Amino acid sequence: MRRRVWLLTGASGGLGSTLARLASAAGDEVVAIGRKSVDITDPAQVRWAVAEAAATFGRIDVVVNNAGYAAAGAFEELSDAALREQFEVNFFAAADVLRATLPYLRAARSGHIVQISSLAGQIGAPGMSAYTASKHALEGLSVSLAEELAPFGIRVSIVEPGAINTGFRRSWAERERPGTIADYDGLDRIGRDARRPTEPEEVAAAILALVDLPEPPLRLPVGSDAAAGIRAARTRQLADLETRWTA
Ligand SMILES: NC(=O)c1ccc[n+]([C@@H]2O[C@H](COP(=O)([O-])OP(=O)(O)OC[C@H]3O[C@@H](n4cnc5c(N)ncnc54)[C@H](OP(=O)(O)O)[C@@H]3O)[C@@H](O)[C@H]2O)c1
Repeated sequence: MRRRVWLLTGASGGLGSTLARLASAAGDEVVAIGRKSVDITDPAQVRWAVAEAAATFGRIDVVVNNAGYAAAGAFEELSDAALREQFEVNFFAAADVLRATLPYLRAARSGHIVQISSLAGQIGAPGMSAYTASKHALEGLSVSLAEELAPFGIRVSIVEPGAINTGFRRSWAERERPGTIADYDGLDRIGRDARRPTEPEEVAAAILALVDLPEPPLRLPVGSDAAAGIRAARTRQLADLETRWTA
């Protein structure tokens, strides 16, 4: 099998650096984009990085939109700037990476887009409205793109991990600001309920296996917490669907 060329954001640590390491160890080429080299919220820098990658390796096979963070807090306490910044990184930067890479994938009539969403892309949670909204947006984009790009041989998969054992929650906690509205004092602003996080190696291995599949799934939940959370949410949704609410 020929070596794949990966382009991966959020490669400075956590899941991104683990995936970059495992893909390289498997013999693939990895263009690992970190915040120090490229500001992914600047479309011109993203276009430059993608063009450099394509010029260096002649193609891009796998695009992983992984960079992301969680803005925590009650919705009423979040500033407009914090909400917009959350979407800039988790949604618009990912969209810009796709805008920059898709011409190469479409020309090649192949490629795999791997969107790192979250259990939070499938459920809601108090104190996480900005994050869940950004991941739901990423999922909506991805589901539509999966159908739009299928005729060109481009595959789209959404990875939905539960808690992962990375610095994610630490940086989430570091961004925590004291609440400004006393009514929300009891809110869990940093997701303290994460119990048995999945190791990043396990999530990265699942992604490596995913890109090997001849017919990869649209969605890949990873971790028993993700499976349980998604099942509970869909069960409630089906119950709503099947209940006769009006006379
Ligand atoms: N950890 C979890 O529990 C969990 C669960 C479900 C989904 N996820 C998702 O998994 C992905 C990777 O997260 P992780 O767990 O590996 O967390 P992490 O260790 O905090 O790594 C996040 C990566 O995203 C980058 N990033 C964050 N904010 C950025 C910004 N404003 N501009 C550019 N890059 C930025 C970070 O770069 P810097 O190092 O420069 O900050 C880092 O490379 C994220 O999309 C996250 O939403 C995580």
